[in-house]
Order: sequence, then structure tokens, then C-alpha cells
Amino acid sequence: MTENTVKIFDTTLRDGEQAAGAGMTTPEKLEIARQLERLGVDVIEAGFAASSPGDFEAVSTIAKEIRKPTIASLSRAHPNDVDQAWKALQGAARPRIHVFLSSSDIHLMHQLRKNREEVMDMAVSMVARAKGYCEDVEFSAMDASRTEPEYLYAMLKAVIEVGATTINVPDTVGYSIPEEFAILLKNIQSNVPNIDKVTLSVHCHNDLGLGVANSIVAIQMGARQVEGCINGLGERAGNAALEEIIMGIETRKDFLGVSTNIDTTQIYRTSRLVSDITGFPIQPNKAVVGLNAFRHASGIHQDGILKERSTYEIMEPASIGWPGSSLVLGKLSGRAGLRARLDELGYHLELDDLDQAFEGFKILADKKREVTDRDLEALMSDQRRAVTESVSYTMNHVQVSCGDHEIPTATVQLTVKSITEGIDAIGEVTIRVQKGDRVYVGRGSDTDILVASAKAYLNALNRLLAMEEAKKVTVTGVPNP
Ligand code: KIV
Ligand code: ZN
Repeated sequence: MTENTVKIFDTTLRDGEQAAGAGMTTPEKLEIARQLERLGVDVIEAGFAASSPGDFEAVSTIAKEIRKPTIASLSRAHPNDVDQAWKALQGAARPRIHVFLSSSDIHLMHQLRKNREEVMDMAVSMVARAKGYCEDVEFSAMDASRTEPEYLYAMLKAVIEVGATTINVPDTVGYSIPEEFAILLKNIQSNVPNIDKVTLSVHCHNDLGLGVANSIVAIQMGARQVEGCINGLGERAGNAALEEIIMGIETRKDFLGVSTNIDTTQIYRTSRLVSDITGFPIQPNKAVVGLNAFRHASGIHQDGILKERSTYEIMEPASIGWPGSSLVLGKLSGRAGLRARLDELGYHLELDDLDQAFEGFKILADKKREVTDRDLEALMSDQRRAVTESVSYTMNHVQVSCGDHEIPTATVQLTVKSITEGIDAIGEVTIRVQKGDRVYVGRGSDTDILVASAKAYLNALNRLLAMEEAKKVTVTGVPNP
């Protein structure tokens, strides 16, 4: 790792999950963590161990299996949180405890109801406690961008003295303007005398749509870790979108002069997986991963592209792993052809899974003339859902009847969209069911939209059950950061 390498810290499984309605089960989190490892992120924040048994289990499961990236657990500056974080991280190849504590007067006064000295003591003693367990300790001064600068400098200096190895500067409420954020980072470096002993990190929220811009400017000012979520998932308007930061660094390395450890060809697959699991669709005009990101519609642009791609394209679709659409499978395609195409799409299947996929493929190919990459993605998503639902209910058959004398027995709200094109297209349905104040997302796909709806409804119910089970004994009084 050189001083020109920027570490990518992914918090999709922690801050991303805080997006309303984006709850994930432990098997789903593990699957995302495996893909994040393929993507090459440096740190995965797997959860907030002390917040619930479900989060504890997710951190612990990921810590035991994922070997390459550092695995972090979030922790409030409370002794029990630090202890739980460390317990959940047992078995990790590279554990990190991430202690956070608010530093702004607004938070101190209205939320913590403590004075500056008390909060300073909590920060120092809890970083020291974490250090007693773990060499790698990150400290986040929550709401740093609205904190009185002298107090922030003093707090950062003090936690570094007791062993913090990464100092994170969050723009918690997405309030900063890039130029202002740059000044804050510059001032931290000139006023915190021991800051050169640690990795300087930023964590930007997107309330004003500036999360990525603030992260990039922070890199220019010397930050060497950026935190964010895939697809910009996260609390309120979300966190900075990691794929945008990564491709910004990659595409403009001439200007920024830094690089990452990321395999950018895994971006597309990671983005689709997160969208599929959380049920948060990707807007078509989303930078880097939106459906239209590499589509050229106007005549002048098409003319330019046909003559020379660089006229209107600053990134190659292949550089993010965008699947080419040249090879189309059909009824006569065999197992080897299917396996080769799935491999190219990034699905490396064991024999059993391949058998199952082939079965699904044959059924689909009977209904559809051509099976495209998007069809295969839908098929793999359905197969994944079937695996994670195997402990709950599965659907064998569905029949829908309606008429003017029938009384409906259930009402659901549906978002229906077609994944693939044509009259035999695969339709994808997203359903949200609400229980209490929690929303659970279910997705299903099929050539018949009603069957897809039934699958989605069942998927939502199964996820509700799995998450309720995991969160049964919720630790009280632990609000999300
Ligand atoms: O936004 C924030 O400040 C956070 C911290 C816990 C890092 O998510
Ligand atoms: Zn955050």
C-alpha cells in the first residue's frame, strides 16, 4: 500500500442497511460480503455488533469467513459496545473496532446531554479500551463537519495518543460544501500534531447530493481512506456512492494521481447484487451503473461513437464488468454454453448449483426464444432467493382467479417492471410489506407477471420472518448512528 493508494471502506452492510426498508438477513449480508471481497475493497464494515443479535451474528459470520479485507464492527463509545464488537470479530483475519462518538455541540447538547469534558473522556477511554483488544482501531467524530474546530482537533489528538490508527471525519448530515470540506481537512492536518501517524478517512452523506464530490476533494486534500456504500445506499439520501468514487479515481488518475486496490470489472455485478437483495432499484441515469450510463440516444452522439468511442464515452463499459450482449443462449444451448456464459457474467457455480441453474434455464428457454444476459441474471437472482428461503416457505404452484363476484382476500402494492425486452420478457416484481414501522422488501421474476408477483410476496414474507427471528432479542436503547 503506497501513500498514493486510497483505501476503500465499504459500509453497505451497516450504514447502507440503515436506509429505510433495506434490512438484510445474515445469509444475504454474507453473499454481499463475498462479492465485496471479489471487488477488492480494503475494509468491510459488517455491522454494529451490539445493536442487535442479528447484527452480532452477521459480523461474526462474516468475520469467520471473509479473509482478505479488514472486517470492522461499529461500536458506540460504551464499554459493552466495545466488548461486543470484539467478541463478534473473533476469528477475523484482520479485525477492526470502529468507535464513534458525536463531537458537535448540537449533538452534545440535544442528544448526548453531556458537556465537552465528559465526551472527551468517553472518547479517550473507549478508544483505549478498544486498543486493549485490537491493534486496528478507527475513531469517528460524528458530525465532525459541524463541530467547533478547536474541540475537534483536541479530540482527534487525544484519541490518537491512546492508539487510534484511523481517524474518520464524517459529514454525518451531508452539510458540507466541497471547498469548505477541503479547508476542514487541511486545518485538521495543520492543527492535529500527530495526525501523520494515522490514516485520515472521510465518510460523506448525500443530503445535498455532494457525498461523492466531498469524498473526491478530501482525497485531493490527503485523505487515504474513503467510506461509502454501493449504489449510494444509506440513511436518508444515502452515503457517497462507492462505485462513483472508484471510477472517478480510475478515470481521472491523470488529475488525482492516486489509485485503489479495486478490481473495477466487479462493479456491475456488485451493484446488481446489492440492488437485488435490498430491493432498491438503480435509477436508469445513475452514474456508472445505471441502465443508460453507456447508452447513446441522440443522432450526433451515435455518429461520434461509431467513428470513435472516446468522443462521447469516458469509461469503457467493460471496465466496470458491464456484460456484452453478443452471445445469446437459446433452447438448443447446452450445459457447457450456459456455464461459460454464467462464468463470464461472474457467477462461478458449483456442480449442484449449475444443475439447478440448467433446469431453470431449460424451462425459460422453452418459453422464450432467446435467453439474454439479463434473463440469466434474473434466473440467478431467483435461484439465490430460493436458497436463502429454503428454511421458510417455498411456492410450488400459483393460480390466480378473479371475477366480478369474488371477494379479494389480500391487497398488496406492486411495482412491476420488465427486466428484459419483448412480449416474452421476464417481468420483475418488487413488493414491500409493512409490519409495525418496519418495511420488508420482496422480489420475484418470471415470464408470467402474476407468478412473479406471488414469488415476490412470498419472498417478502420469508425475509420478514428471517429478520424478525434474527432481531428477536433487540438490545434496547441503541439508536442507529
Ligand atoms: O454518518 C456518520 O457519522 C456515521 C458514523 C457512525 C461514522 O455513520
Ligand atoms: Zn454515516
